[in-house]
Amino acid sequence: MIEKTVILIKPDGVVRSLVGEILHRFEKTGMKIIGLKMVWIDKDFAKEHYKAHKDKAFFKELVEFITEGPVVAVALEGVHAIHNVRKIVGATDPRDAAPGTIRGDFAHLSMEWASKQKSGGKNIIHASACKKDADEELKLWFEKKELHGYKTVHEKHTF
Ligand code: RTP
Ligand code: MG
Repeated sequence: MIEKTVILIKPDGVVRSLVGEILHRFEKTGMKIIGLKMVWIDKDFAKEHYKAHKDKAFFKELVEFITEGPVVAVALEGVHAIHNVRKIVGATDPRDAAPGTIRGDFAHLSMEWASKQKSGGKNIIHASACKKDADEELKLWFEKKELHGYKTVHEKHTF
C-alpha cells in the first residue's frame, strides 16, 4: 500500500513561480518528499519520458513544451501515493480539472486551445499514472542515491 510516485512541475509551473505552492499541497497531506531536484531535460530525455505518446498528434509540441525550461522533479512516498497524487493534480485538460486541484486552480488553457495554437498542453504538472509508470519514472528521473529514506513526524506519531 505504501507507494512511491513521481511528479514534475513543468516549465509553465516553474516560470509562474508555483513551485512552493505546489510542493506545499503535497506536503500538507502528510505524504513524504523522498527526492527533489531541478533539471532542464533535453529532447531525447523528454521523448523517453513521454514515449507512450510518441504516435499522438501533439507529441512534437509536448516535447518542445517540456524542454523549454527547467522542471522540478519530485519523488513522493505515501499510502496509495499514486492515486492520491493524481487526485490532487486533477484532470489532464484544465477545462475539466475541478477547482481545488492544482490544474483546476492554476491553469485554464484547454487542450483544444493548445492544439489550435500548436503549443504543448500547459497544465503545470505531471504525475505518474500507474504503478508501472511510477516505477519506470523513478528509475528514469532519480539515481538510487538521490532517493532518501527517513521518518516524518506523521509516521512517528500517527502510524
Ligand atoms: P502527464 O502525463 O503530463 O501527467 O499528463 P496526464 O497523464 O494527465 O495526461 P497524458 O494523456 O499522459 O498527456 C500528457 C501531456 O500531454 C499534453 N497533452 N496535450 N494538445 C493536446 O491535445 C494534448 N493532450 C495532452 C499535456 O501536457 C498532458 O499533460
Ligand atoms: Mg500521463
